[in-house]
Order: sequence, then C-alpha cells, then structure tokens
Amino acid sequence: MLIFLSWVFAATASVSYDNKAVLINGRRRVLISGSIHYPRSTPEMWPEIIQRAKYGGLDVIQTYVFWNGHEPSRGQYNFQGRYDLVRFIKLVHQAGLYVTLRIGPYVCAEWNLGGFPVWLKYVPGIAFRTDNEPFKWEMQRFTYKIVDLMKAERLFEPQGGPIILSQIENEYEIVEYEIGHPGVAYTQWAAGMAVGTHTGVPWIMCKQGDAPDPIINTCNGFYCENFIPNRNYKPKMWTEVWGGWLMKFGGPTPYRLAEDVAFAVTKFIQNNGTYFNYYMYHGGTNFGRTSGGPFITTSYDYDAPIDEYGLPREPKYTHLKDLHNAIKQSEEALVSTNPIIASLGQKQEVHVFKSKSGVCAAFLTNYDQQYSVKVRFGNGQYDLPPWSISILPDCKTEAFNTAKVRLNGMHMKMVPWSWGFSWESYNEWVGTASDEGSFVVKGLKEQVSVTWDTTDYLWYMTDITIGGDEEFLETGRLPFLTVASAGHALQVFVNGQSVGNAYGSYETPKLTFSGRVALKPGVNKLALLSSTVGLPNIGLHFETWNAGVLGPVTLEGVNDGKWDLTKWEWSHKKGLEGEALSVFSFKGSSSVKWTGGSSLAIKRPLTWYKTTFDAPEGNEPLAVDMISMGKGEIWINGQSIGRHWAANKATGGCGKCSYIGYYHETKCQSGCGEASQRWYHVPRSWLYPKGNLMVVFEEWGGDPRGISLVKRTT
Ligand code: GAL
Repeated sequence: MLIFLSWVFAATASVSYDNKAVLINGRRRVLISGSIHYPRSTPEMWPEIIQRAKYGGLDVIQTYVFWNGHEPSRGQYNFQGRYDLVRFIKLVHQAGLYVTLRIGPYVCAEWNLGGFPVWLKYVPGIAFRTDNEPFKWEMQRFTYKIVDLMKAERLFEPQGGPIILSQIENEYEIVEYEIGHPGVAYTQWAAGMAVGTHTGVPWIMCKQGDAPDPIINTCNGFYCENFIPNRNYKPKMWTEVWGGWLMKFGGPTPYRLAEDVAFAVTKFIQNNGTYFNYYMYHGGTNFGRTSGGPFITTSYDYDAPIDEYGLPREPKYTHLKDLHNAIKQSEEALVSTNPIIASLGQKQEVHVFKSKSGVCAAFLTNYDQQYSVKVRFGNGQYDLPPWSISILPDCKTEAFNTAKVRLNGMHMKMVPWSWGFSWESYNEWVGTASDEGSFVVKGLKEQVSVTWDTTDYLWYMTDITIGGDEEFLETGRLPFLTVASAGHALQVFVNGQSVGNAYGSYETPKLTFSGRVALKPGVNKLALLSSTVGLPNIGLHFETWNAGVLGPVTLEGVNDGKWDLTKWEWSHKKGLEGEALSVFSFKGSSSVKWTGGSSLAIKRPLTWYKTTFDAPEGNEPLAVDMISMGKGEIWINGQSIGRHWAANKATGGCGKCSYIGYYHETKCQSGCGEASQRWYHVPRSWLYPKGNLMVVFEEWGGDPRGISLVKRTT
C-alpha cells in the first residue's frame, strides 16, 4: 500500500520522493542547497550572490518567507525592493537553480519576532503556534497568500518554475513537546492546511519527528548523520547544516572551520543523506530594525561561504565547492543503492555505494582525533588526516578529502577610504515629563504594547518632589535609585542629565540599573529611556515576553527610608523627537537646527549627527567603521542600515580552535574584548555618486569624528 502510494505520487507530479531521495521529473537527485534570505541583501546584490552560489556547486537556494516584511500592517502587503520575493525566485530560476521555499510563517531565523508581524500579537484572543483559532486563521491566510502568489507567477516546479519543496512551520516539535495536546492538534492542522494548498510539490517540516504524511520531516543541526526520517519511505534530508553561527551584541564572532563543515556534510552523505542545505550560505545583513533575538547583531554574516558583503569567504567557499564536485561525481552511485560499510582499522571505515549497473563510489573515513593513517582499499593506498573523509567517486581515485584544503585563507581587510567628515549635531529632546504626545497612567506600561515596535524607544517619566527637610540634602549622601526593567537597554536621566545606563544580554534580556542620583529640593524630573534591541524570535510563547521598565523602581536613602515609585503616576512617551521628524531623511533633516564646527556635540548622550559624502569609486563593498561610537542607529539617504552598538564589547572564550572533534556554538570564536560589531554594511546601491546623507543617532555618547567609510578588499 505504501509502495503504491509513493509510486502514484512519483508518477503524477514532477517533484516527488522515495526512501532514497527527492525525485525531479522522475529522477532521484542528490541536492546541494544553501540558505540565502532575500531581505538580508539588496536586489542589486542578488544576481551576483546567486551566481556565486551556482558556481560554488549549489543546486538549490533555500529561503524563508518573511511575513512581517510582507504584511507590516494587516492587509497591507509589501512585495517591493528587498521584499520582492517573486523577483528573487525568478533570478534563481534564471540561474538554473531550484528553490526550497520555507513559508513558515514562523521562521525563527534571528529575525524580529521570528517573522511574525507585531500586529499579530494584538489580534484579540491570539496565542502563537498552538491550536488557537485566531492564530490559525491568520497563518492560513498568509500561507495561502504566498502559495497563491507563487502559483499565479507559475513558480512551482510542475508549472515550469523552480520551487521544488515548501516548508510549513519551523522546528515545532520542541514546542509541541512542552505544551502537549494542543501542540499535537496544531501540528496535524498545519500539515493538513499546507497539503490542502495543492502546490504540486512536497512539503517538509524540519525538526518534527511526528510530521504527518505525506510531509517529510527533516533534520537541522551541526551534525545529522544519525538522523532517521519518521517513515521508511521518506528520504533523509538536512535542512540546516549550521556551518557557522549567529552573532550577538556582547558576544564574540563565532566561526566554523571549512574542514569541519566538510566532514559533517560528508558523514551525512556517506550515511545515506541526499539533500543538505547550508544555513547560511550567504547570511547578509539585518538592515533597519529587522534583527531579532533580542541582541542579535546587525551583521548576519554567520561565517557563511559567501560573506556578509557578498564576497566568497576563503578557503571555505572553494573547499566546499570542491566537496560538491566530488559529491556530484558520485551522485549516480549515491542514489542507486545503500552503502556497504566495512572496517578499515580501529577508527577507520569505508562506505561503498556500488550499484547493479556497476557504478561505484567510496568514502574512506578516519574518525581518529589524533593520527593520520594510511589505509588500503581495493588496490590502492590512501592517506587520511585525523577526523577526515576521502571521497573516491569511482572507488579508485581520491577526488576530495575533507581535511585537505587546497586554497590558503584569503584575508579580507576593511580599508579606510574616507574619514574626517564634516559632522553636524542636533540634540535629541531629553524627557522632562511635560511633553505633548505623552500619556500619563498610574504605574508602568509594557513597552511593546505602547510602541507596537514602531520604534526602539519608550520614555518613562515621573516627578520626584524632595522636601527641604530631607536629611541627604545635609549629609550629601545621595539617595539610591534602583530600576528593574524587562529589557533590553536603559538610560537614566535626572533633570535632563544622564546618570548612566544599563543593558541586558541575549541570555538575560532583563536588567537592573542602580546608582546614586543628585536630587535637589523641589520637583525633580526622572526620565527613563528604555530601548529594545530586536524582539525575541524563539522560545515558548515568545510573543508574551515583556520589554521595558516594569519595575520595581525604588529610591532609598530618603527620610522615609525607601520610596516605591512603581505605582506612581508615570508619563509615557513613545519614540524620539528626531524619529517623529524623520531627521534621518533629506526632507526631515532640514526641519531641525544642526550645529557644527566648534559647537559640534561630542560624547553627549542622545545626539543626532549628520554629514554628506560622495560615493567612493570602484565597486568594492562598503561599510562604516563605528568604533568611536556607542549605541544607536545609522541611516544612509533615509534608509536604516541597522542598529550600531560598537560600545558593546565581546565577552567569552576565544581560545585556539581545531577542526578536529565535535563542534558546538562556542567552540570557535574570535574578537573577545573587541566590539562585537564594529563595521556596518552600506550597500553600494543605496548611494548616489555625490551628496549622500549619513545620519547617526547616538544614545550613549560618541565622537563622530572617528567614523570612517571603509572598503572591503583583499
Ligand atoms: C534554527 C532555526 C533557524 C535559525 C537557527 C539558528 O533552529 O530553525 O531559523 O534560528 O536555528 O541560527
């Protein structure tokens, strides 16, 4: 019966699958895939990145679909610019590659709110990713929106398009495990809903051990050679080969060596895997306020084979290209049979794929973590470095060994190109509890419920009246202010003066500010500026996680001992004045008075800076070096290139790292003690030849004279 079912599927659709592989037009394939997320680069960069991916040996480009980019307000769609999904897919098609479309619409991906639009949080009665009617309604609506668009553009493979697979949900099994029955029901519903869209191509669910038929469950991870699909008529697929790792503000730069990535992939292939996808093949940039986490950096470089700027990262790119070549040469043997495994020594073995028709491919593996060995196989002798595999596509000649890297590393440099810009500054309004556009309530409001994430910023302001009889006025022992916040960063002002800041981390977004504050007799203005650094993208019901100052807020060292300010009247004001005036745009920048020369504000908190510059000649990718700055956001010609936070230095372990041995996300890291992210990508296509406007908002205080424009070159 099962055999019959899969046969029918194979015969009627041009993409199908069996126990061994995905079949395209009836032919089993080994498919080599890489994740490239379209909004993480620019449409102008897409053709070259896709070409590089093709040249690197990929067959498939895998991308998520980013709901919050496509439907920023409910019912108002955006498929333009970096969100021109159709254009992206057509470019992939033109390059002769296939697409795996991960619709989600939950995507995780270190993307703001995991891809969900913020308005979705405020749909009455909603709970994300469970058996909840309002959620299922919205999820289904968006899934159909995307599938219908793809159909209308004839982008599914049976229609002549490049899409061979689609994904519904993302790594749901962990949530299902935690919430039990409603999770099981939701999985069943999501699967049925997806299949009911009739795309004509198979659906996949990653990390979903109970994926209902006919959906294929797939593996994500640093290793997947031991993964087994939930039915014996499904192929073994690896949707996320973590060939690098994500970066956080406050964390070092993770990397994973090419030898180790190649070893992990080859182990998967020699153990019957026939589809794998690098996550990421090109990571790119979290432009604007798209990064999630919270605390995910603006760079999403990911140590990917194509770097953030679209350039090949060597030796990784070429080493993996060589691997792909060897796999392709072995394809026929790999898809026609299961391997026969034999021992070649204590820690050595061989996997032989030999088909009835006579094709043969062999994989010689040395698991030893210390020693190189010589092994005999057939009539040959082969040298295997520690922790490596050699691929013999004809069972005779070594075409590739995972630890023998042909190219030397190519060192990319950030070369200063222009600096000494003529900056002007404008002082942002500092909360004094009397501004229009604010509202007063008793107690403190959760931040995102006020801002709906239209801005990172929310002011919390209250008046503290100090009587003339307060003892501290005599003793000079200043009262002690404590502010507890759900995150993510906080700046404290008293009577318009900054008294300090505090911030959380990816691991612990919560923070507490504490410090002595100079209060004077009479009314004092306490103003707390809370800022978010991307909304969470992972975790059980992450949509319910709070941000902002929720208290307690206390003042110790007054005559009464301690005041609890938490339930006082607080004035709330969302966003910055400069944001409301769009001072980062050409038009808006003329609406305020800027000062330069000797009146330029330096190291002053809450300051906007602007300058103009001409585009550097040539075509090397560009970045701004923000090493002299603290925390804030950068705009080029009115478009945000992302949050900067060079003042957040990397803590962690940056020891020596070898490709040998099992990898984990903190095994190989660099940049400890330095800014987690110093350079910020400026897309070439955002520039005019002359007169480009750069605007920086600085929260903590920085010296813009240290900002330079750099070129990325070898
Ligand atoms: C996976 C997830 C991806 C991404 C990755 C970490 O679990 O599916 O979307 O978040 O982790 O980079």
